[in-house]
Formats: sequence, structure tokens, C-alpha cells
Amino acid sequence: MKDFENSLDTMLEKAFLTISSGVDDAKSYFHTPTVCTFEGQDISARTVVLRDFNEQERVLRFHTDQRSPKISQIKENNNATVHAYDQEEKIQIRLKGSIEVHHQDSVTEKAWENTREMSKECYSVKDSPSKKIDNPVEFDIDKNQIDREMGYENFAVNLFTFQSLEILYLKRAGHRRAIFEWLNNDVKKNWLIP
Ligand SMILES: Cc1cc2nc3c(=O)[nH]c(=O)nc-3n(C[C@H](O)[C@H](O)[C@H](O)COP(=O)(O)O)c2cc1C
Repeated sequence: MKDFENSLDTMLEKAFLTISSGVDDAKSYFHTPTVCTFEGQDISARTVVLRDFNEQERVLRFHTDQRSPKISQIKENNNATVHAYDQEEKIQIRLKGSIEVHHQDSVTEKAWENTREMSKECYSVKDSPSKKIDNPVEFDIDKNQIDREMGYENFAVNLFTFQSLEILYLKRAGHRRAIFEWLNNDVKKNWLIP
């Protein structure tokens, strides 16, 4: 997309395209964004795989293990930030919003159906992620032993909806930074000093 930095509308279009590319393109920097959530008073950041992006609803989908401590932390405070920087495109995107956790409902059913067998294996680990252990080898997955479908009960879907999107484009001739803030279905668009 050429000269997208010349208008707020095309800055937003470019941001949406950049996020979308992360769903199917494993080489896209937005395929593995960082999600930050609260852990009580602390902030916790981690890499996740972007599974889907609904542009109309401004929803990003991530998968995780229901047993993970972050699930209860998100339920306590579901404010979240998603961040990624595309080094080739020189574009940073920051999203602010909230997460809705799904477990054993129609959302998880549909997502599980479309999950590759290899990815299903992660949910069959015999104990809860983040548990302190003595020997990691005991928790290696034996591909011949596991019933992948058993993992479904540990499978959770996180739907992140954002109300704010900030894009920073690094450009030699002059950086460009813009913010988009949604209230209901109206969007406020502003340039920012980079
Ligand atoms: C490339 C990559 C992709 C990852 N994808 C996911 C993911 O989709 N879901 C997830 O829960 N953890 C994923 N992880 C692991 C998390 O970064 C994190 O280590 C783990 O979820 C524990 O985080 P927590 O302590 O905040 O629960 C991924 C890690 C890497 C390096």
C-alpha cells in the first residue's frame, strides 16, 4: 500500500491490513504479538499466536490453556494491551481493549474444530501451565500415548476487543503516528506527535 502515511483513513487501513496479515502468514510480525494483562498489581506480557482478526468487530482471537493462571487473572481484570512491531514495514501497532474468556461453549467448539492436530497436543499436558516442577522431562508430551481430543477440556479462547489503535510508522523523511478511538461505532481519528 503506497503513500498510506498521507491520510488518517489510509493509516487505519494499513494498520488493519498489518494485523490481518498476522493470521495466516507465519512470517508476519503480527502472527505472534505480545499480549499484556494484569496479574494483580503487576503487568504480565507474553507472546501468543494470532488465530483470527475480525476487522468489523475489532476482535482478535487467541488460544490458551484454561488451567493457566492468566485465565483467573484476566477474569479479575480483563483490561489488556496487544503490541507488535513489524521490522520490515517499520510499523508499530498498539491496541488497548479487553478480553473475554471462552471455555466449553460454541466459540471454543468452532475454534477447536479448526485447530490443527499438532496444536491440540499442547492442551494435553498432564498438569496446569506455570506449575513449578522438578523435572521437565516428565511433562514432555508422548505423541503416541495422548488422546488429542482430551485436550478440549483445557482449551480456552480469548477474544480481545480493542477500543483504541495506535500506529507508528518510522520513516526517514518524518515519522507518522496516529490514534483511532472507538466509542460505540463512531471512531475519532487523530495524528499524534511521533
Ligand atoms: C512463538 C510463541 C507463541 C506462543 N503462543 C502462545 C499461545 O498462542 N497461547 C498461549 O497461551 N501461550 C503461547 N505462548 C507461550 C506464552 O508466551 C507464555 O509463555 C505462556 O502462555 C505462559 O504465560 P502466562 O504465565 O502469562 O500464562 C507462545 C510463546 C511463543 C514463544
